[in-house]
This record gives sequence, structure tokens and C-alpha cells, in this order.
Amino acid sequence: MELKTELVEEIDALIPKYPEKRSAVLMLLHKVQEDQGYISPEAVQWIAEKLELQPINVQELVTFYPMLRQEPIGKVHVKVCRTLPCALNGAYATCEKLQSELNCKLGGTSPDGNFTIEFVECIASCGTGPVVHVDETMHENIRPENATELADQLKAQVKSS
Ligand code: FES
Repeated sequence: MELKTELVEEIDALIPKYPEKRSAVLMLLHKVQEDQGYISPEAVQWIAEKLELQPINVQELVTFYPMLRQEPIGKVHVKVCRTLPCALNGAYATCEKLQSELNCKLGGTSPDGNFTIEFVECIASCGTGPVVHVDETMHENIRPENATELADQLKAQVKSS
């Protein structure tokens, strides 16, 4: 597994701040996922070696916490807010529409590897829901009836990349 030198340096600087090396395991999992997009078996091995743990000690956390991914994510990461204000404005129907338009099941990645769709909790734009976060960009008022428009934009974005 190839990690950026800066990331390895950052991790090496953070580990001694924990009372015991093993206490840094979740921090390392988050850092590696941020960089790689998911936690591969090689990443589990790397983290275990770094913290002098058995790989199973790391793997059990990866399988326990739903926010830790074991599969690579798509080129475009779509997150639909499902908290009450967005849900009341149609977030569930918006999400269904996006799934069918992008050929991607909730919580998974499309067969072409282009899209991953997930539900998330409130992303602090409750007055303009349903809110859909795509990579680093917030899209507001994505109702089921205009979800197709957003899906078309995302498909065009993938084509041009
Ligand atoms: S409830 Fe969706 S952004 Fe707050």
C-alpha cells in the first residue's frame, strides 16, 4: 500500500500523543480511509504493523464501524441527507431517483465504478433540503422531480473527467 510521505509523517507524529500505541487505531483508520477511499486488506496489515497489533484487531473495527469502507468508492461520491427536515421534503424519494438514474444501489457503487450513493445525517443546511452532498459540493433543494437533472450533471461530469 502506497501512502503519501506527508501522511505517514503526520501519522508518525500523532501516534505518540496517545497513551498507548493501540489507542491510535481509529485515528489511523480514518486517516488511511481519507487518503485511499477505503480500508484494503493491505491497509489493515499496515496499520497493525504500525501499532504492533494483530491484523484481526484492526479488521474487527473495520467490520464493526459502518463508516469504515471495505470496498473502493466510485469516482463520484453522492451523500443524501436523510435527517427529518430533509426526509420531510422528500429525501428518500430523491435518493431512490438518484439510485435509478445512476444505476447505483444505496450503500454501494455502480457497476461501472462511477458512483457511490450513501445516506448521511444532517449536513447543516436543513432549510434548503433535501440536500445532496457530491464530493465537496453541496446541492440544495434536490427534490425527486429535479433529481434527474442532478444525475445528468453528474453523468456529464464523469464523462468529461
Ligand atoms: S436535515 Fe438535512 S441538512 Fe439538516
